[in-house]
This record gives sequence, structure tokens and C-alpha cells, in this order.
Amino acid sequence: MTTLTYLGHAAFLLEADGKVVAIDPFLTGNPTATRAAADISPQTILLTHAHNDHVGDTVEIAKRTGAAVISTFELGEWLTSQGVSGAIPANHGGTVAFDGGTVKLTPAWHTSSYEQGGTFVAPGIPAGLVVRFGGHTIYFAGDTCLFGDMRLIGEEGLDLAVLPIGDHFTMGPADAARAVEFLNTPAVVPCHYNTFPQIQQDPQAFKQMVEARTSARCVVLAPGAAHEL
Ligand code: NI
Ligand code: MN
Repeated sequence: MTTLTYLGHAAFLLEADGKVVAIDPFLTGNPTATRAAADISPQTILLTHAHNDHVGDTVEIAKRTGAAVISTFELGEWLTSQGVSGAIPANHGGTVAFDGGTVKLTPAWHTSSYEQGGTFVAPGIPAGLVVRFGGHTIYFAGDTCLFGDMRLIGEEGLDLAVLPIGDHFTMGPADAARAVEFLNTPAVVPCHYNTFPQIQQDPQAFKQMVEARTSARCVVLAPGAAHEL
């Protein structure tokens, strides 16, 4: 059994067989977070891109736990420069093994920079994540617009897709519903909404749209809630 827990915004925990993976662990300063950074101890952290609402507490968590941190190349090198010993820089198309699973980095259409003391440093480019873990394949799109090559990602044989629906910074609900079709996924979890004023959305309306036009099940998770795969 694999458990996906929503920590709010685009932060998730995946747990199976005693292994814990954190995805985009933005907790400190996340108004929807239900857990403190000090309360999670993953063996692995997977990052989609460098924006502060995704890197979040990665440096603190990784230094405390020694977690491996898998990301695109420049972000990984930047994490190393910040004192993270477990950074594993990778890039699109590559599959990287971690404790309990693998991740394949996919393209994502977005930008990537980290704001530090009023200055934007630019660690690399954004990615999506195809995670194989606990016998399941889960796609975390990261921040992205809709793009046609999601059809190729669908050929990975997904059990679940985690998609942003907030609009403004990413695709909105209508394009996310089209993404569900492109990805040929049997289930979808929406994220990246109702955190900030620009990304207010009704996830139940998204669920109705997805379930009206596709055979996928839409699982709406409140922050703190978990879904068993
Ligand atoms: Ni972003
Ligand atoms: Mn974001």
C-alpha cells in the first residue's frame, strides 16, 4: 500500500514500506500547511523546480535528516552550495533511483528561480516527476501549463496524476481536465490552488468537470488528508 498525504499547496508525502518521500516540501510560510517542517523526516525529497513555494523547507529538512534530494541539475548544484550533502542533480529524461523507488524527470513549461534576500538566483529549469514507488506510478506535474507531450507521459502507465489547477501561475481547471485526458490516468489529485489570492479555485467544480468528460476519478484532498493507492 502506498499513502499519498497532501501537506497543502504542492507539498506531498508518499509513504510505503516504511519509506518516506517528500515532494516540494513548502511548509514554513505556507498558509495551508498542516505539518511543521520539523515534523517530517523523509529519506528522499523530490523537487520540481526552484521557486520558493516548492523548495520550501528542503535545505533545513535535508540537513537535519541527510535526505537525498533529487532535482534538475542547477538546482541540485545550488542545494549543494547551501550545505545539502544529499543533493543529486539530474535532468529531463533521466531516471534516478532512491530509497524505495525511482523518479524520471519530465519536461514542464514554467520558470525556475529562487528568491534569497531580495535577489533571484536562477537554479535551472523546471521538471515534472514520474515516481515509481510502492508498486505504483504517480506523475507530479509540478508547475506547468498544458502541453501535448503529456500524451507521452501517459504512456508511462500512470496510476495517479497530481496536477496544478490554480491558474495564473500554472494551468487552470479546464486545461488540467484536458491534461487528465492526455495523461490517460485513472485518477487525479488537484493541487496548487487556494494558497494565495491569485489561485482561488473550486476543486469540487474541477472534480465534476473531470468526471463528466473522462473516466478518471478525481480525489480532492483537504490539506492534511491522505489517499491510499
Ligand atoms: Ni513555480
Ligand atoms: Mn508554484
